[in-house]
Amino acid sequence: MKVISVVNQKGGCGKTITSVNLSYALSMLGKKVLLIDLDPQAHATFSVGITPQHTIADLMEAYTQKGKLDNSLIEKVLIEKTNRFYIIPASIGLASLEHTLSLREDKLDILHHILLIMDLNFDYCIIDCPPNLGVLTLNALVASGYSLVPLGISEFSLKGVENLKNILEFIQNFKKKSPSFYYLLTQYDQRAKFSQKFLHRVRDQLKDNLLTTIIRINIHLREASSLGKTIFEHKPTSRGAQDYKKLAKEIEKVSGEALWVKLIIKGKNFNGIYVVGDFNNWEKLEKYRLKRIAPDSWGIDIPLRKGIYRYKFYTQGRWFPDPSNNQQEPDAFGGKNSLLVVK
Ligand SMILES: Nc1ncnc2c1ncn2[C@@H]1O[C@H](COP(=O)(O)OP(=O)(O)OP(=O)(O)O)[C@@H](O)[C@H]1O
Ligand SMILES: [Mg+2]
Repeated sequence: MKVISVVNQKGGCGKTITSVNLSYALSMLGKKVLLIDLDPQAHATFSVGITPQHTIADLMEAYTQKGKLDNSLIEKVLIEKTNRFYIIPASIGLASLEHTLSLREDKLDILHHILLIMDLNFDYCIIDCPPNLGVLTLNALVASGYSLVPLGISEFSLKGVENLKNILEFIQNFKKKSPSFYYLLTQYDQRAKFSQKFLHRVRDQLKDNLLTTIIRINIHLREASSLGKTIFEHKPTSRGAQDYKKLAKEIEKVSGEALWVKLIIKGKNFNGIYVVGDFNNWEKLEKYRLKRIAPDSWGIDIPLRKGIYRYKFYTQGRWFPDPSNNQQEPDAFGGKNSLLVVK
């Protein structure tokens, strides 16, 4: 399951509208999609026309109190909208839970563990986050492999990008892994000169991390959510529907792309050498064991998506950075990690 959190601490930049319509558009491509509303404002829940009895807050509460989840509760919380589009709703109750969570040692891992325990059979899980970088958003980031950051046309959006980068580093340091980030320009007005100029600047600054799809301003998007519908149920031929369909295809592409990266190390007498990194949770796994490719060298091809990765080699109780890669950064233990940039 590809988990994608939709984040930005700035309010009103299009997180909810994107979460809801991207989820539905992916389901129209034949994917089974779960939308999790993780915002106490519960806008995604209302946007799909649900007044919930049970919410994500119930799951989080049950998990934090009992350390497990009953199937009966999971069944109550998981709402089927269509045969491929499901939602776990939110309610204002999440706000008070946030405080309880923040006192726990495992406060960043709750959602991640819940998703693991539920062991759901979905292609995608899209998480709509609240407009802050508090404990709920951090839970979403830790649980996700990808993050989608909607950016409105405003100077403040670019300032927010810097804060997000800091958060990402924080998660990387604590969890040894962080989601790949993609930025999405939203509420774009083609006719405004300012919008066009902004687009050029954002492209310069964010480069490959900016998705090519742009979500234009479309009044039908706003109407749809106030009617408790997705754009595809409300106005399937509108610009809004076209843009979100395009976004779903691009998300399919970027999240499915895996590039094969070759790592090679010289040496004769390794009795088993492995690559360990944030792409395999720093675990010494058999499928990451290097093969002898010449009398004095060992290699491995690993599938990686676009992003920045940290890794080391491991052999006979020793961890060390890649001697043939001069891109390194300090690790948390006074040593060095090798850095790998996959473009
Ligand atoms: N492309 C668009 N065209 C027209 N209206 C839009 C568009 N995108 C968002 N809106 C409207 O802008 C408002 C904010 O959008 P949305 O609720 O998705 O933002 P948000 O980032 O989730 O906000 P919050 O931070 O409060 O959760 C909503 O009224 C929504 O209908
Ligand atoms: Mg929202």
